[in-house]
Amino acid sequence: MDRGIAAEPGATDDARLSRGVPVPRYLRLHYWWAYIHPWAVKFWDRLWIVNLILLTNYMKLRDAALKEFAGLRGRRVLQLACVYGDVTPKLARCVTGNGGTLDVVDVLPIQLRNVQRKLGGLHGVRLLNMDSEKIDLPSQHYDDVLLFFLLHEQPKAVRAQTLEQAFRVVKPGGRVLVVDFAKPYWWNPFRYLWCAFLAVFEPFALGLWWHPMAELVPARCRGFAMQEERYFGGLFQKTVIVCPKA
Ligand SMILES: C[S@@+](CC[C@H](N)C(=O)[O-])C[C@H]1O[C@@H](n2cnc3c(N)ncnc32)[C@H](O)[C@@H]1O
Repeated sequence: MDRGIAAEPGATDDARLSRGVPVPRYLRLHYWWAYIHPWAVKFWDRLWIVNLILLTNYMKLRDAALKEFAGLRGRRVLQLACVYGDVTPKLARCVTGNGGTLDVVDVLPIQLRNVQRKLGGLHGVRLLNMDSEKIDLPSQHYDDVLLFFLLHEQPKAVRAQTLEQAFRVVKPGGRVLVVDFAKPYWWNPFRYLWCAFLAVFEPFALGLWWHPMAELVPARCRGFAMQEERYFGGLFQKTVIVCPKA
């Protein structure tokens, strides 16, 4: 049962897009230029720019995430946080085309409106203005929860709480999928350059560098089946964590 939001999926309900959720301090301080400023969306949301920021790995990582949903019927999927580029429209078409539904949560209405524009009125998708730290959604509700490059932007305590929430809302037997930065292999020439870049521009990202997902998931989830794939000399990870059936 949903709490606080209408049960019928549909991407057009403006009340859900802007519920007056406070903007977290770390976003206001460190990412106003990337997500909050009205010009930010116009400037950054271009495939070639996000692809460049991910060192030309955007499409590869997007497709690695989408592969996890291919051919799965009737899934109830939650994407925690909007993403620039075309991850969400492609995921939405894949999930709803297979008879499932997609909920996308973001703390910023401007980001949800941007995704709404990109979805073009697709049915079976809800856009929800919520903070990933305290998502107002029922427990054990989703088959899959996707976190695409969210965790590296969050301070340690927020990241832990986001993961706590992701594992709360996923069903027994469901999956939490993380695509994000990781610590590159020792031979990766980007290792030192990128460490410095992240330290300056992404102040919380090195948390994912120094700690594998096995350490970051809530303590009660540490024994869950976990499959990790690494990309671009280890700089990026896709980690799929499967919750045991009840
Ligand atoms: C997924 S991350 C970054 C992804 C990637 N860098 C890109 O190219 O878009 C960006 C999104 O996370 C959202 N976000 C950050 N902290 C959040 C939180 N606590 N709750 C919900 N959304 C959050 C931001 O509003 C933004 O839309």
